[in-house]
Amino acid sequence: DKGNHRHFMQKEIFEQPVVVAQTLGSYLRPLAGEVSLPIPEFDFTQIRRVTIVACGTSFYAGMVAKYWFEQFARVPVDLDVASEFRYREPVLEDGGLALFISQSGETADTLAALRHARAAGQKIAVVVNVPTSSMAREADLLLPTHAGPEIGVASTKAFTCQLAVLAALAANFARAKGRLSREEEQEIVRHLAEAPAAMNAAIAHDDEIEALAPLIAKARDVLYLGRGPDYPMALEGALKLKEISYIHAEGYAAGEMKHGPIALIDEHVPVIVIAPSGPLFDKTVSNMQEVQARGGKVVLISDAEGIAAAGEGTIATIEMPRVHPLIAPLVYAVPVQLLAYHVAVAKGTDVDQPRNLAKSVTVE
Ligand code: M6R
Repeated sequence: DKGNHRHFMQKEIFEQPVVVAQTLGSYLRPLAGEVSLPIPEFDFTQIRRVTIVACGTSFYAGMVAKYWFEQFARVPVDLDVASEFRYREPVLEDGGLALFISQSGETADTLAALRHARAAGQKIAVVVNVPTSSMAREADLLLPTHAGPEIGVASTKAFTCQLAVLAALAANFARAKGRLSREEEQEIVRHLAEAPAAMNAAIAHDDEIEALAPLIAKARDVLYLGRGPDYPMALEGALKLKEISYIHAEGYAAGEMKHGPIALIDEHVPVIVIAPSGPLFDKTVSNMQEVQARGGKVVLISDAEGIAAAGEGTIATIEMPRVHPLIAPLVYAVPVQLLAYHVAVAKGTDVDQPRNLAKSVTVE
């Protein structure tokens, strides 16, 4: 049931604050300031390496998790899309945790990769939205997301719930490794608990994003730039736009622009820049200015401070609430989802059932 919404995708975008809160509810103890996983005690101290494998949007959640696992737990992380992982002869040594991320729990490539990792002696952790799925059944550590059924082919709420689980997992891991003080854990819990309200504040900018959509709908190509844990949001924004509006879009690490993609820039290519305030802001903005200097039409997604500092010369700005860098990926996922949604609506495509795509890819 779509309720008051025109499409399932729109409903699922708007549901995110609630389902992310629901998901966090089973991973955080806010009053105690603790993370706690909904699984029997697991000895993370023996884990020497993490291998993350997934496809599509779930892979981008894994990309964000790599930054978090490395930053918090100081554990080496290997990351790949499932279709590559299976066939590249990965080196999987004892003491490895293989982490699979999937909305459906049935994606053929991811499931085959899981079985490959199990045969190679890895502990199997699964972040999955469908609790009765094959991946859920085959996990040693089952980490459910509580997004509820996701109907739109373009994944939205499953993605932000995956991020919520992965942040809690990274913090739990870091604590087990003795790399997190009580105070740091409390801080992480406090920031994560703020995510649903911040996502609501992001959704409040829906009208502005809708107003921008006709302009983007005219483009033939759109670029997305981000850095650090927000780089995967650039990839996700581009994937969402491709999937449902059929506009060619690419996401790049902002610092990679000058190594090639900047050659694409002219006044016809909108460039969506994802730049929350934080340690990487100035770096991203300097890449953005390189784009502007070549006539690129920039849409800056940032907070009030970021927009005040760098909004000049852009064709539009989308203001997000000021958030801690840890939760920025959850919050900045919202405007890129909404932009893709409104552009697709402006183009009149079938938003919930885009051409050539299936909700669950159960063939190789
Ligand atoms: O069910 P899964 O999370 O394993 O699916 C993985 C991808 O097929 C999926 O995320 C796909 O990229 C979506 N259509 C993205 O919107």
